Amino acid sequence: MNLVLMGLPGAGKGTQAEKIVDKYGIPHISTGDMFRAAIKEGTPLGLQAKAYIDRGDLVPDEVTIGIVRERLSKDDCQKGFLLDGFPRTVAQAEALENMLAELGRSIDYVINIQVDKEILMERLTGRRICKDCGATYHLVFNPPARPGVCDKCGGELYQRADDNEETVGNRLEVNMKQTQPLLDFYSAKGYLRNVDGQQPIEVVFADICELLGGLQ
Ligand code: AP5
Ligand code: ZN
Repeated sequence: MNLVLMGLPGAGKGTQAEKIVDKYGIPHISTGDMFRAAIKEGTPLGLQAKAYIDRGDLVPDEVTIGIVRERLSKDDCQKGFLLDGFPRTVAQAEALENMLAELGRSIDYVINIQVDKEILMERLTGRRICKDCGATYHLVFNPPARPGVCDKCGGELYQRADDNEETVGNRLEVNMKQTQPLLDFYSAKGYLRNVDGQQPIEVVFADICELLGGLQ
């Protein structure tokens, strides 16, 4: 099962990705998570990516494509993968097509989670994440049982550095510009499937599972 999850910042990619990888047992490859881990560890990649992410801009294509190429060559991707937040430009999408062709593989579906941009600001500024296991919550839409504490592992919840109003505004603008050409690219290839992301989290997931039902 070779999947790509698309959607504007806050559409629910990470939320649905957690559920998809749990159910289908494929690795979750989030370029955003990879960059944040590199920043935390202070690696050269992290130092390079940090300035872009702090502003809400995209990290340059050649950097991003390089880390995905390396990740997809790992053994655990043999049975499939779920790409979350990559590709985000047509250049990245073309590079991915080439990488997969070299491996004799192709994408099954590009799942595009659709949410009106007016809703995204509230979703992002209210988001909280577990320091230990990475689970995602929302202060209003998906609150933990105990404030500030992860339901799954008891870890402490924190707010992402780029989830403040100013950076979120730029992230939305930057991503909106890139999205339509990418949707056109995947629509032309026949991979694109749209899912209504303005339903409750479990209903969005049920729609995705229905779509994936026919795949091995
Ligand atoms: P990344 O980490 O990918 O962030 P993003 O695309 O901005 O997406 P988010 O993680 O913010 O949103 P999401 O869709 O996962 O939403 P979530 O499920 O958490 O990228 C960060 C940065 O890294 C980029 O800005 C860029 O600089 C760089 N980068 C990454 N990839 C790159 C690439 N390919 N090229 C270049 N640069 C790249 O949900 C959001 C909130 O809403 C949560 O609180 C959740 O609980 C809640 N929620 C979710 N679903 C629902 C629902 N159905 N109803 C109500 N609330 C919901
Ligand atoms: Zn946790």
